[in-house]
Amino acid sequence: MSAQKEIKKITTHTLLQLKSQGIPISMITAYDYSFARLFDAAGIDVLLVGDSASNVMAGNETTVPITLEQMIYHAQCVVKAVNRSLVVVDMPFGSYQSNTDTAVASAIRIMKETGGHAVKMEGGAEIADSVRRIVSAGIPVMGHLGLTPQSIYKFGTYTVRARETAEAEKLLQDARLLEEAGCFGIVLEKIPAALAATVSSGLKIPTIGIGAGSHCDGQVLVMHDMLGINNEFKPRFLRQYLNLEELVTGAVQAYIRDVKSRDFPASNESY
Ligand code: KIV
Repeated sequence: MSAQKEIKKITTHTLLQLKSQGIPISMITAYDYSFARLFDAAGIDVLLVGDSASNVMAGNETTVPITLEQMIYHAQCVVKAVNRSLVVVDMPFGSYQSNTDTAVASAIRIMKETGGHAVKMEGGAEIADSVRRIVSAGIPVMGHLGLTPQSIYKFGTYTVRARETAEAEKLLQDARLLEEAGCFGIVLEKIPAALAATVSSGLKIPTIGIGAGSHCDGQVLVMHDMLGINNEFKPRFLRQYLNLEELVTGAVQAYIRDVKSRDFPASNESY
C-alpha cells in the first residue's frame, strides 16, 4: 500500500461547505501549466482559467476577441498541472450568447477537451435558460454579475456597477435567478461592498468577489495583477503581493550585462 497521503480535491460541494462553515474561498486566475502548478501546490481552492487571458496573455484591449479554441488551449495547460484545486473555465464571448443549443455545445466542448471541472458565464436573466440546460447536462456553472467585461461595449467604462437602486435590484434578482437555475457560485465584480454583502447573505451558494468588499464568501484576483507583472494597473481593489515587473526587469538586465561582458557562462557553467 502506498504511504502517500491522499490529496483531498476541491469540488463544488467543498465550496458550499466552506460557505456554510464561514471559511473564505481563495481563487486566482491561471492560464498556463507552470503558474497553475505553483498555485495548486500553494493550496489555492479554485483556479479560474479566465477570459482575461485575452488581456494578459494575448495583449488584447478587451476580453471580447478570445475564442473558444484559445480558451480550451489555456484550460488544457492548466488542468495538466493540477492535483487539488477546482478548475473553472470561462466561456468566452460568442460561445453562449446566441442560443441555449450553442451554449450547451460550447460547455460540453470545454469539459470534454480540457478536463476542467466547471464553466463560468457572465450575465443574469439573459443566460438563465442556458445555465439550466448546461447544469442539466451535468456541467457545474459559476455565474458572474456586476462588471461583466464581455459587455464592455454596452457599459462603455470599467467603473463600479450597480450603484443606482434599479441596477442593484436587478443584480439581486439575477443572483437569485442564477442560484435557482443551478449555479454553484457567483463571481461579483466591482460592485458596492454593501450590495455584495446583501447578495452573499441571501444566497446558499458562495459569492466570490473582485472589487466587491470583504463580505463575499471568497475572493478572486487576476494573477498578473496580484503578482505585479504590470505595475501600470493599480485599481483600488487590488492588493499587490509581489513586484514581478521590477524583479523580472532587474533579472533580465543582469543577464544582459553578464552576456555582454562575457561573465556568463563561467567555466563551471560550461562542458
Ligand atoms: O476573466 C477573469 O479573469 C475573470 C475574473 C476577473 C473574475 O472573470
